[in-house]
Amino acid sequence: EQLAILASVLRTAVDAIIIIDQKGTIESANIATERMFGFDSVEMIGQNVKMLMPSPYHEQHDGYLDRYQKTGERHIIGIGREVTGKRKDGSLFPLHLGVSEVETDQRKLFTGILRDISELKAAEGELKQLN
Ligand code: HEM
Repeated sequence: EQLAILASVLRTAVDAIIIIDQKGTIESANIATERMFGFDSVEMIGQNVKMLMPSPYHEQHDGYLDRYQKTGERHIIGIGREVTGKRKDGSLFPLHLGVSEVETDQRKLFTGILRDISELKAAEGELKQLN
């Protein structure tokens, strides 16, 4: 019962929630992720999370994961960052990314929570023009 509730909370959350393994392979993505990026979850699951980002991150993201595994140095985990996402149609948009680390029995997973900040950025731009 509680697990079912938790599962449906994750599935229907407003923010995109993506779970990847240590290699960057997408294990799960909720409905908000589908809406935000334009992919069905079956198109994302099993693919590398770099499919959701433009260059140069696309080419470098595996290296970021490797570096974290080797050094334990956190650049986004527990901190958050504004980054650029890439939709299925190739268009780019700004998003806020938060990442946390989850250790299960034998495996380490990463949970990413993503919020589209296009409107926030547009409002910021308008404010700047006023000043
Ligand atoms: C590291 C970009 C999505 C997990 C990084 C770094 C960048 C980046 C630039 C390195 C930061 C630095 O060295 O200063 C992006 C972009 C994304 C994205 C543009 C757009 C979709 C995700 C998602 C997850 C994730 C969805 C997890 C589900 C990680 C992890 C690290 C990392 C675990 C290494 C640990 C750390 O630096 O704290 N990412 N990322 N990323 N990213 Fe991503």
